[in-house]
Amino acid sequence: MAAVDAGWAVIGIDNFEAKVAQINSGKSPVEDISDTQLQAALASGAYRASTDFSSVAKASVITICVPTPLDEKREPDLSLLQGAAKAMAPFVSNETLVVSESTSYPGTLRDIIIPTVDSLKPQDSAIVYFASAPERVNPGDPVWNQKNTPRLVGAIDAASKVKALAFYESICDVAVAVSSPEVAEAAKLLENTFRLVNIALINEFTQLCATSGINVNEVIDAAASKPYGFMPFRPGVGVGGHCIPVDPLYLTWWARQNGGRAEFVETADSVNHAMPKYVALRALEMLDSSVTKPKVLILGVAYKPGVGDVRETPVSELRDCLKDLGAEVAWHDPLVTNWEGSNPVDTEWNCDVAILATKQAGMNLDQLAARGVPILDCTNSLQGLPGVTSL
Ligand SMILES: NC(=O)c1ccc[n+]([C@@H]2O[C@H](COP(=O)([O-])OP(=O)(O)OC[C@H]3O[C@@H](n4cnc5c(N)ncnc54)[C@H](O)[C@@H]3O)[C@@H](O)[C@H]2O)c1
Repeated sequence: MAAVDAGWAVIGIDNFEAKVAQINSGKSPVEDISDTQLQAALASGAYRASTDFSSVAKASVITICVPTPLDEKREPDLSLLQGAAKAMAPFVSNETLVVSESTSYPGTLRDIIIPTVDSLKPQDSAIVYFASAPERVNPGDPVWNQKNTPRLVGAIDAASKVKALAFYESICDVAVAVSSPEVAEAAKLLENTFRLVNIALINEFTQLCATSGINVNEVIDAAASKPYGFMPFRPGVGVGGHCIPVDPLYLTWWARQNGGRAEFVETADSVNHAMPKYVALRALEMLDSSVTKPKVLILGVAYKPGVGDVRETPVSELRDCLKDLGAEVAWHDPLVTNWEGSNPVDTEWNCDVAILATKQAGMNLDQLAARGVPILDCTNSLQGLPGVTSL
């Protein structure tokens, strides 16, 4: 949509037929893109979706932005990226720019995408330009979007740099050129690992403060009064979404391939993974010992506020820990209609304790508090309500 707004004609290729049909019928599958915006783009003829990879023959710019998840060993799974590169390569026209926007470890463009395209491209496509420009979008963010978030551009050579900068300068306010694709790829991993590590630090610090009855959020606010050298991060049930828990493991894998070890990052990952159990135990501690089969209501299952995205949500592990500890668990999230095969309850569900895991608009928390339900607040957003304990 950013490219449509900038005057480009855009074809979105996806191998998921139902999604392509949904988009072409004017129903947006992306929370930050409204149906109205999508329908206007479709009606103007500037945009359409397709499952047909041969459409890339018409493109002067191809951006690859397929998922880069982890496999069952929690290592990089580039099969979708390789699949997309293979599928489009036979149709790449001469003088086309190919950009990888997917998050991956340094060397992905040079070692995987470029050889794939070069080996499969049409013979008369002698010149293909290549760059890496990692996606930085923050879903649900009311301030930062595709246009006003600076975009890193690391190109393979000088001619590719000119092409890639021209494209990103047309769709973003600022494009930041770096010296190689590897710098752009590594910068993306650093950005998300920075968040993982700082969240882990605060999650560990929270547990230390709790043993002395110190409210960690008050401590963070106090530290944040220092105008330099400190940035506030908040504790929570863990990290979720398809970026923060995933991308740092691309870094740890890449480190191992190079004979090193990202120990600091591995420790941060373990600390965050231990949080759901810690939260479950804290919530159960709030109950009278006479409650033998506690009923626990989890409020908010999306991985962050303002979105209905449950990918990699740490709340799954929280639910499992509570069940392992003998609790009956139900959940409520105004933005999620079905989660891992179960349906939500409303806040009137009869429970012994509630855990506010993710704060969403439209949750009737006053009603819960008025009923005297104790609430463990993992979001630092319920100060002043009776019966609330902060993480
Ligand atoms: N969404 C974000 O907030 C965000 C932010 C920063 C970076 N990223 C990165 O962007 C990349 C894409 O993430 P996303 O959230 O947009 O993914 P997504 O899960 O929304 O998937 C994008 C689409 O790719 C399609 N797809 C999968 N394999 C394909 C193939 N071989 N050919 C064609 N289409 C294929 C899927 O059907 C899906 O519709 C990832 O590397 C991610 O780390 C995403």
